[in-house]
Amino acid sequence: MKAVVLCGGEGTRLRPFTYTQAKHLLPVAGRPVVEHALKAVREAGIRDVAIVVSPSVEAQFRERLGDGSRIGLRVAYAVQPEPKGLAHAVLCAEEFVGDESFLVYLGDNLLQGGVTGVVDLFRSQNPAAVVTLRQVEDPRRFGVAVIENGQLVRLVEKPKDPPSDLAIVGAYAFTPLLFQAAREVKPSFRGELELTDCLQWLVDRGHRVLPYRVEGWWQDVGRPADLLVANRLLLTQIEPRVEGEVDAGSTVEGPVVIERGARVLGSRLIGPVVIGEEAVVERSTVGPNAAIGPRAVVRDAETADSILMDGARVEGLTLQESVIGREAAVRVDPSCAALFLGDHGSATIRSSQHVSS
Ligand code: TTP
Repeated sequence: MKAVVLCGGEGTRLRPFTYTQAKHLLPVAGRPVVEHALKAVREAGIRDVAIVVSPSVEAQFRERLGDGSRIGLRVAYAVQPEPKGLAHAVLCAEEFVGDESFLVYLGDNLLQGGVTGVVDLFRSQNPAAVVTLRQVEDPRRFGVAVIENGQLVRLVEKPKDPPSDLAIVGAYAFTPLLFQAAREVKPSFRGELELTDCLQWLVDRGHRVLPYRVEGWWQDVGRPADLLVANRLLLTQIEPRVEGEVDAGSTVEGPVVIERGARVLGSRLIGPVVIGEEAVVERSTVGPNAAIGPRAVVRDAETADSILMDGARVEGLTLQESVIGREAAVRVDPSCAALFLGDHGSATIRSSQHVSS
């Protein structure tokens, strides 16, 4: 069995981060979003993976993931020239898949239990497809499935009056028959080839489509706030490891990963926390739920529930529930404020924000 991991799309909701980086390469809990998805694929026993990417970010993916050997996979890339929908993205990987069965996994979806369950069900039952479903509070925002006698019989996209509370999650398993479905379905009202329409196509022709229900958390990374939710969820799963330096003046509580070359000086870490390679944490309190990127600097500061990307700097303030981009800097100087404030702008500077050093 092979896997097709969908990382096309534009990621417009994650701007400004996606102006310069692919959504799936944004870091969460110390690793790009897609690496968490790929880890789940590997744990399901699949080694051959095609990553479907947009042309503008193909080079970024190749640079980060290469041939996949670093993460125990054989990774190929398939380019989707335009984001014309999930089924269109899968069609772009048809040559890679050939005549094998395959997992389709949206590269921005994270599942607590991974994708092993959906793969195992497919392997043991040999249906035309398996669809992952999860009970949700408000099904009106999702594709919703109707199950009868253990089989999927109907799918409805974002129903006003939901026929069930089972939302379609971004992990599926298919036989190559899916490609025929993807070629025959018509674009939806939003002009995209939809996987839900392909599933309905299979059901309508009498093929067996089985549901696989997941119970644990499911998080997709679509908006900036989702980065922080995913960060918090994934940080609960870290395996503590200290390869960097923690000086005698520092304390560490709870699960913490400190990567090679990182330095923690006169600081307090409250896990779960990840400190990236070559990062510096000095006279600061970091955590809980903080992921500090490689070469980032946190100095005379406090930060919790936040992501600092590669080379970001935070100095002299308390920062919570924040995402700071690569090489971006936030600095408070207690003695003065230097502002570029536009017409009608407003800035509130609270002295309690300052951390004395
Ligand atoms: P979406 O989150 O629906 O779309 P997007 O990533 O373009 O984001 P935005 O709405 O903010 O612009 O996509 C879900 C997943 O499917 C995501 O991993 C990207 C992938 N995808 C493709 O690979 N090709 C496509 O044509 C589309 C629409 C999505």
